[in-house]
Amino acid sequence: MDRIRINGGRQLEGVIPISGAKNAALPLMIASLLTSETLTLKNVPNLADVNLLARILRNHGVDLAVDGKRPGPVQHLGETFHLTARDIVDSTAPYEMVSKMRASFWVLGPLLARCGEARVSMPGGCAIGTRPVDMHLAGLQALGAEIDIDGGYVVARAPRGLAGGRVTFPKVSVGATHNVLMAAALARGETLIENAAREPEVGDVASCLVKMGAEIEGIGTPTLRIQGIGALEGARHTVLPDRIETGTFAMAIAATGGNVVLKGARADLLKSAVDVLRSAGTEIREIEDGLRIVRNGAAVEPVRVETQPVPGFPTDLQAQLMALATTAGGTSTIRETIFENRFMHVQELVRLGANIDLQGDLATIRGVADLQGAPVMATDLRASVSLVIAGLMAEGETTINRVYHLDRGFERLEAKLNACGANIERLSG
Ligand code: EPZ
Repeated sequence: MDRIRINGGRQLEGVIPISGAKNAALPLMIASLLTSETLTLKNVPNLADVNLLARILRNHGVDLAVDGKRPGPVQHLGETFHLTARDIVDSTAPYEMVSKMRASFWVLGPLLARCGEARVSMPGGCAIGTRPVDMHLAGLQALGAEIDIDGGYVVARAPRGLAGGRVTFPKVSVGATHNVLMAAALARGETLIENAAREPEVGDVASCLVKMGAEIEGIGTPTLRIQGIGALEGARHTVLPDRIETGTFAMAIAATGGNVVLKGARADLLKSAVDVLRSAGTEIREIEDGLRIVRNGAAVEPVRVETQPVPGFPTDLQAQLMALATTAGGTSTIRETIFENRFMHVQELVRLGANIDLQGDLATIRGVADLQGAPVMATDLRASVSLVIAGLMAEGETTINRVYHLDRGFERLEAKLNACGANIERLSG
């Protein structure tokens, strides 16, 4: 199993290109199931999760060409995907695949809308929490789906097709919004989704659906009104930049000190995180084609943050912010309100010398003068990258085990950081 070795204590200087957003690319690829025509997606990041979803979609009959070439055993090198679901050959998404990546459960709505039936494995729990799918199912039922659970599978049927309905989510769910939104685009009549997720990735999918011919009002607001149409068309769409990758690098620079341009980054996609970083003393300047992040290397100011759906502070940046807070000039508090078990990085940060007290959903971080390198274990995607940030801050050598988590969501992480003066090396085996 690969490990990453970091020699910390260096400031970062240079330019880091920001990739397309994983959490937009995945549902956008799934949207290809809604049409028999070709959906072309540009700026798709080369990530393990993207490659896994490509395999899952191929199983349903989606034909995928990358930059005009067929993907072979070598990894996708191109960044333009042409996805064509001329015929859905299999409306079952098996356990072996869905259990590896939760977002693949989002094929349920599109397959049901297109084929009138779908059989998708329940995703099960995962490292960061129990993550139920009740809201996905209730939303599709409101569109007329009949749903049974059979042998660990959700079996959904709509023999006469889906019909528009009113869906009011009891809490904000990104995935349930994607699932119902995509299904509603093909349902007969009008669907109203209330308390929809406002994450930019939802807006990106909705904009792509509009290019495919869907009629959607309220994009970017909690109320989406969709006029379903019988068939969608092919379209071309560019995946928006990854706000979590942007925030992660911004925090790394705030933590080590330095001066880096995040090329292609957009501040409007992560306003709350930009506000937090600025209040902590990091300079973030909007420049042509990106953001410039500047910090002089002194300890940042402590932070007081609670994770919330957009417009709040994203749970996907909570671990990275905690790494930054470990050496702040005072005591920070971070409350995690989205997932009940998303603090697995805490004990690893403590191994590096952090002083963190965890009580339920609240972490209290007392800033220490510095961290010291040590061997640590990656547990999930965002926790892993928080350890990379901590490793960059720490004196001496940090080794991170189980780095396959990082490859799910960060494209060329070591190369991007090394180009700015970091010292990170991947060790195989
Ligand atoms: C998406 O997950 C993201 N994944 C997550 O990013 C992100 O952390 C999360 O949204 C929150 O922003 C992708 O976009 C691929 P939710 P999702 O449904 O859609 C509860 C990463 O690291 N809930 O918005 O699965 C749920 O348990 C990943 O890139 C229900 O109770 O998250 C959680 O407490 C990790 N019932 C809350 O809602 C449901 O039916 C929000 O989850 C659905 C969700």
